[in-house]
Amino acid sequence: MAENRSIHGQWSSRLMFVLAASGSAVGLGNIWKFPYITGENGGGAFVLVYLACIALVGLPIMMAEVMLGRRGRQSPINTMADLASEAKASQIWRLLGWLGVVAGFIILSYYSVIAGWAIAYVVRSAAGTFTNVTADGVESIFGALVGDWERLLAWHTLFMVMSMLVVARGVHHGLEKAVRVLMPALLVLLLILVGYAFNTGHFQQGFDFLFKPDFSKVFYQCETIAGAQSCSFTGEPLLVAMGHAFFTLSLGMGAIMVYGSYMPRKSSIAGASILIAIMDTVVALLAGLAIFPIVFANELAPGAGPGLIFQTLPIAFGAMPGGRFFATLFFLLLVFAAWTSAISLIEPAVAWLVEKRQVSRTRASIACGFTAWLLGIGTVLSFNVWSGEEYQLFGKTLFDLLDFLTANIMLPLGGLLIAIFAGWVMTRQASADELRMNNAGYAAWRFVIRYITPLAVVLVFLKAIGVL
Ligand code: PHE
Repeated sequence: MAENRSIHGQWSSRLMFVLAASGSAVGLGNIWKFPYITGENGGGAFVLVYLACIALVGLPIMMAEVMLGRRGRQSPINTMADLASEAKASQIWRLLGWLGVVAGFIILSYYSVIAGWAIAYVVRSAAGTFTNVTADGVESIFGALVGDWERLLAWHTLFMVMSMLVVARGVHHGLEKAVRVLMPALLVLLLILVGYAFNTGHFQQGFDFLFKPDFSKVFYQCETIAGAQSCSFTGEPLLVAMGHAFFTLSLGMGAIMVYGSYMPRKSSIAGASILIAIMDTVVALLAGLAIFPIVFANELAPGAGPGLIFQTLPIAFGAMPGGRFFATLFFLLLVFAAWTSAISLIEPAVAWLVEKRQVSRTRASIACGFTAWLLGIGTVLSFNVWSGEEYQLFGKTLFDLLDFLTANIMLPLGGLLIAIFAGWVMTRQASADELRMNNAGYAAWRFVIRYITPLAVVLVFLKAIGVL
């Protein structure tokens, strides 16, 4: 089984796998979501937990997920079925594939709406809307966009069509060429933005916010009752940080598994995974370093929510020389980064449909895209028609709920099951054969994936729901 190529084709080189998987990993999660949840969760201590989760949970699971994909060589559903047979385990493991497919649809549904905001901002930047814009001005521009469901729907539709076009062509044609240029360009632009932020005079404050952990601010909620202060531990930021480690590395839902199934047999899984995790983390931290100094310089609220980058970066662009050009380029690159992530969200479902051999790749892509598009309408409405309290559940809009359910529950659960399968169900020989690391490296990975990773995920879950 392991020698066969995937029926879907194969990456042309090891480098292509790294680029495609980083294309999947680096996306809205790094540039849009990381700064805003860091802002909402008080900064440094949250960032520290997130970094720990990347190293102890994210990296070992990424290696496991790539390994399962490359051994199974099919969509996550069929890969899990085959690997379960190989390990003489129950076919119930197929459900892990299904969990991922469902999570992929839900994530793509709202991901596409946010990517639509980025497209709208490309147009506004090119038109010069942000030249010398003030903090108030940019807030009302953002408010006008998300308040208008028809516009959001139009951009959401455009983004979904773009994604389906690439998926229909097969991931390795269009995509391979695109990521080679776009990823480095995005990095350069982020560096320019950090350079600008460095000169705002509030760089130190932004830096401290990100890197000076104050656990009392993040994990303890204090109230003053009758003059006395009482503080209690709150576990939710812990769960959000861990959930984000999964989200940002595209783990726990089969995206990395399906990309791994197109990986050539001889490439090193550990090396590629480390590279991807580092790249992804660097991009997120740079985005944070670019954004928070601007937030403080303009007296904006770090906890402004999902609009944070759309309400801060235009101020920086509007004030810098050549800002119109840089702003257009930046949002364009953000759209591309989202694009290369979106296609990986839907690839597990499309690959599975193609394997059933009843439909062509094109039809499968259209059907999947349409389903996610339909679901996305709920997110479109979350920011306007359905934003009122009467449409909220647990104080969350539909968008917030879908985001919470997928990133903080479904992905960690998928990741936990991947760790259990790779560490406990699969034979030692099979995983050693696939990973081909030196003895010490393999032993370390196996120990972490069997004990540390599952324990960490379970502990965070229990802490978050207040059992511990
Ligand atoms: N990792 C992507 C991002 O950071 C999102 C994603 C999640 C993509 C899960 C695929 C699977 O934007």
